[in-house]
Amino acid sequence: MNKIILATQNAHKLEELRSVLPEGWEAQTAFDAGIRGELPETGSTLEENATQKAKFLWDYCEISSLADDSGLEVSVLDGAPGVYSAMYAGPERSDQANRSLLLANLVGATDRAARFRTVLAWATAEGIQLYEGVVYGQIALDERGEYGFGYDRIFIPNDGDGRTFAEMLPEEKVAMSHRSRAVRAWITGL
Ligand code: IMP
Repeated sequence: MNKIILATQNAHKLEELRSVLPEGWEAQTAFDAGIRGELPETGSTLEENATQKAKFLWDYCEISSLADDSGLEVSVLDGAPGVYSAMYAGPERSDQANRSLLLANLVGATDRAARFRTVLAWATAEGIQLYEGVVYGQIALDERGEYGFGYDRIFIPNDGDGRTFAEMLPEEKVAMSHRSRAVRAWITGL
C-alpha cells in the first residue's frame, strides 16, 4: 500500500480525489496526520499555494504529499476570481455570496466563458512536481442544481449537455472535473 497525505479537508474534494486514486494507494488527510489548523496558503497563484501546502506537509510528515489549489477563471474578468475564488465576496468564504457576486459582475455580459483550473503539487523526497487539470465552460445566467459546492451551480462545462456541475450526479462531475483531470495527469506521471 502506498500511503500519501492529502492537503484538503473539504469533504466534497476529498471524495472526488479518493474516487480517482489508483488501486493500492491509501490517502490520509492532513488532519489524520495530526495537523491542526489551516495549511499555509499565502501565494498569489494556484501554483504557489499548492506548492506551499505540499511542501509544508512533506516537511511535517516526510510522507509523500499531494496538495491541490483550484480556482474559477472568468475570461471577461481577466481571470478573476482565480486564486481568490474561495473569498471572492469576502473573508467569510460564503459560496452563496461568491456566486451572487460573480453573477452580478456578469450582468449583461455576452461572453461568459470561464474555466476551472486545478494545480496539484506532489511533494516527495525528490522535490516538488506540479500537475494541472482544466475544464472549460460558461457561467450560467442563474443558479441551477443542488449537488456539489462552490461555483458548481453556475458553471456549465462545454463538454456536457447544458447542465451545470450542480445538476450532475457527483460521478458525472468527477468524470470531467478539473480536479480529476489533474489527478489523472499526476497518476500518469508516477
Ligand atoms: P480550493 O483551492 O480547491 O479550495 O478552491 C478554492 C475555491 O474555488 C473553492 O472555495 C470554490 O469556491 C472554488 N472551487 C474549486 N473547485 C471547485 C469545484 O469543483 N466546484 C465549484 N467550485 C470550486
